[in-house]
Amino acid sequence: MAEIKKATGFVDWLDQRLAIKPLLKVLMTEYWIPKNINFLWAMGVVLLTLFSILFVTGLFLLMYYKPDVNLAFDSVNQVIMQEVAYGWLWRHLHAVAASLIFLIIYIHMFVAIYYGSYKKGREIIWISGMLLFVCFSAEAFSGYMLPWGQMSYWAAKVITELFANVPLIGDGLVVWIRGNYYVSDATLTRFFMLHVVLLPIVIIAIIALHFYSLRVPHVNNQEAEEFNFEREAEKFKYGNKKESKVIPFWPAFLSKDFFVVSVFMIFFVYLVCFHFNFAMDPINFDPADNMKTPSHIYPEWYFLWSYEVLRGFYFDIFGIPAMSIGLIAFGLAQVIFFLLPFLDRDPKVIPAHKRPLFRIWFWVLLVDLIFLTLYGKLPPGNDIYSLFISNNLAGFIATIIFIALFVLLPIITAIERKNRGGAK
Ligand code: HEM
Repeated sequence: MAEIKKATGFVDWLDQRLAIKPLLKVLMTEYWIPKNINFLWAMGVVLLTLFSILFVTGLFLLMYYKPDVNLAFDSVNQVIMQEVAYGWLWRHLHAVAASLIFLIIYIHMFVAIYYGSYKKGREIIWISGMLLFVCFSAEAFSGYMLPWGQMSYWAAKVITELFANVPLIGDGLVVWIRGNYYVSDATLTRFFMLHVVLLPIVIIAIIALHFYSLRVPHVNNQEAEEFNFEREAEKFKYGNKKESKVIPFWPAFLSKDFFVVSVFMIFFVYLVCFHFNFAMDPINFDPADNMKTPSHIYPEWYFLWSYEVLRGFYFDIFGIPAMSIGLIAFGLAQVIFFLLPFLDRDPKVIPAHKRPLFRIWFWVLLVDLIFLTLYGKLPPGNDIYSLFISNNLAGFIATIIFIALFVLLPIITAIERKNRGGAK
């Protein structure tokens, strides 16, 4: 055993047993971050804050929630919302954080796309981030089921039914996922298990991987400037702080992040206190009724773009049913962002404002996704006309543009690489 001396204080006592000083050095005071980054690089810490809020508020909700089809609705809408002191506050904090985490995830993703932070050397950061996106989507979907309102029930029915289209095993798969031939108590309890146990554990593990994967390639910067981190860190350590291009994660970088998190929290608390309804669907305040289909079923706002891709193909093509094409496009939309580091054929990390073609690609993608999101909320059919074309046609065109963008990406990035004069 290592020699244990009389400790000079509590920190020293801990250090002799857990080696916390070297650990803090590696993780905090000598973990180097580029200086040349803006507030958009604080989104990762905002996400961590939101996830912590979801975790803590979820624990409080769990104390009164009942995962049973006969009790779930009342345990949320009667017990938590009306009877338990401040139960409504915990619920609104949880619901608003769940909605906002997607807004910030999208901002975080698009910042990474704009600055090329997914490229060569950073693939694992990107892929672990995408895994987080998928897990958060599953977490949000399973959470949406728990109040067992009309939308909970019908969303569960529609989404689980999609699996029936998997060739050969489709029907069996649906029964396996639901735990029954129809959406029932078994379905609720297994989604409850996913929401409160399995997915949170997986998410925490992937967040650890996401952070770890940042260490070797380091955090990118606004101009994608490549420099020697060790040399810049030496400059900082030996007092040449102004000239050094890096700052330590703690206290310099995190203190800036705390400022952004604080401003964000003002916005967050404002929404919780004054606009909490935006995170809840009014139809979900009616108890689940399998005999009464809501006239218009739609997902939460953050799934609308992919929902619109699913129903974008509203007519059969060459005899292939519209539903099957929509499903293939939907499946593709779920995985295509994973492939971004490999579809981009220009390995050099360069921000979009220095890549003329990619810059256009980026903005078209962003506008198209916003468009798909807006149209995803509208009821299907030709009856509401906007921009002089029907909803269906507008959704179809936006879906085709979405697919075309990913077909074009390797081509335009290869052209840009050639124009730049090579792979470096
Ligand atoms: C709750 C989920 C997430 C958390 C807590 C998280 C956290 C972080 C943190 C703290 C950083 C470093 C600082 C920064 O750039 O903000 C970071 C960087 C990064 N994240 Fe995430 N992230 C999450 C989800 C995602 C998602 C969904 C993606 C995209 C698919 C993603 C992709 C990236 C990339 C590419 C970087 C590197 C940025 C750079 O080098 O400049 N992250 N993340």
